[in-house]
Amino acid sequence: MEDKILKTINSFETIETLEIARLLNVDHQKIIGFIKSLESFTKFINVQPMSCKNITLTPEGLEIAQNGSYEAILYNSIPLNGISQKDLMENVKNYKIGFSKAMSFGWIKLDKSNEPTIYRQVDSIVDQVQQWLLKIKDSIVEDIPSNLKHEFKRRKLITENLVKSYRVSKGLEFKLKIDKEITDLSPEMIEGDLWKDVTFKKYNFKALGVSPSSGHFHPLMKVKTQFRQIFLEMGFSEMATNNYIESSFWNFDALFQPQNHPARDEHDTFFLSDPKNCLDIPLEYLKKVKKIHTHGGFGSLGYQYDWKTEEAQKNILRTHTTAASTRILYKLAQDNFKPCKYFSIDKVYRNENLDATHLAEFHQIEGIIADYDLSLGHLMGVLKEFYKKLGLTKLRFKPTYNPYTEPSMEIYSYHDGLNKWVEIGNSGIFRPEMLLPMGLPTNISVIAWGLSLERPTMILYGISNIRELVGHKVNLQMVYESPICFFK
Ligand code: PHE
Repeated sequence: MEDKILKTINSFETIETLEIARLLNVDHQKIIGFIKSLESFTKFINVQPMSCKNITLTPEGLEIAQNGSYEAILYNSIPLNGISQKDLMENVKNYKIGFSKAMSFGWIKLDKSNEPTIYRQVDSIVDQVQQWLLKIKDSIVEDIPSNLKHEFKRRKLITENLVKSYRVSKGLEFKLKIDKEITDLSPEMIEGDLWKDVTFKKYNFKALGVSPSSGHFHPLMKVKTQFRQIFLEMGFSEMATNNYIESSFWNFDALFQPQNHPARDEHDTFFLSDPKNCLDIPLEYLKKVKKIHTHGGFGSLGYQYDWKTEEAQKNILRTHTTAASTRILYKLAQDNFKPCKYFSIDKVYRNENLDATHLAEFHQIEGIIADYDLSLGHLMGVLKEFYKKLGLTKLRFKPTYNPYTEPSMEIYSYHDGLNKWVEIGNSGIFRPEMLLPMGLPTNISVIAWGLSLERPTMILYGISNIRELVGHKVNLQMVYESPICFFK
């Protein structure tokens, strides 16, 4: 087939695909497909798109081409001495059309003087309709006189369709055989001489390639990885944060957060109904925490109120990962304290009013350093180093209040895009009222800080509504296409 097409192209100066299809008696679309593939070889053939109207006979048109037009059939059915109109009407099919056409051509006449009789008016006729339809049938004509074409269309003898075709001529590199281009060099080719004779397919460096199917990290997970990397570079170890349900004791009381603190009521914290209470709080430690809240100690006056075990036992969804830090500090105090640095990045829950920047669950990033005689200077130094690794160098600290840190500082960074100072974290030195009841040595300080994961992620990825980042409205395409990281 390929050979035949190439030979046909070879023997004409230019040829149309329709003509090739007719000569080879092959479906035109197949020829076009082949011509298209030839086009991809450089200078092999020249191709020019064309369109023409293709006329075909309808079944009725085909019948007329075979048997003659109704008017001719009618004419031929009239004997030389005429025939009564009634007889003709009964014996000739399509009498009505045949009669009116034959009359209008002047082929016949009707004599109504007695019984209506029809006579031939001329000695012979030429059935032009049949002749034209035969020519169309054999595709001999391209141009039929337009009045005839119009008439044939009106009589529904032909249909006309637009056909797209191509005019083809030989190119400079035309050959009667196509060399198959080799895409893979095989060991056999190199062993012999075959590689010398074959044509290699050119590399298409612009081909996009198939992108491997894979999972996609959510932007939060990408930024989380980045933060984890920074902590690890700075020598921190990761804390276990696998307890989303926490007792009020570890979340609040152990942090010296008074039981009447507004953050502890139902408007801010989710309480569990089942199991409602935590029953495995270490008793000795609980007593010490109770004492520091009620009477103070270690030079502190405490809060001087009636601290209740039942309040401390209430199970909640943890409101901050500082609960995990508290647990690990308590553990350190029990197992011969050694200086250490820990971090965590995990979810916390708050009974918030939901809006464009707040959800009831979000991630906190938290770092703690426990060592001898740490000061505020250490805290500021570590924070500067930490944020520098994130690309944030313009920092400001603003005094604030946390029940468990003193002093406490909010951290602000100048946002070049927003052209203003934005709060990026909270920090402080844990209070002696928190650390000493655990049994940590008195000259130990713990510096700590925490920030949200969602906030820097939204800034980095240019997302202004948190619902586009988390929840059922998240556009998965955003997840698939979001950059792995950003270079500063
Ligand atoms: N736990 C604090 C918060 O929820 C963050 C913080 C952690 C502050 C450690 C000081 C020290 O925002």
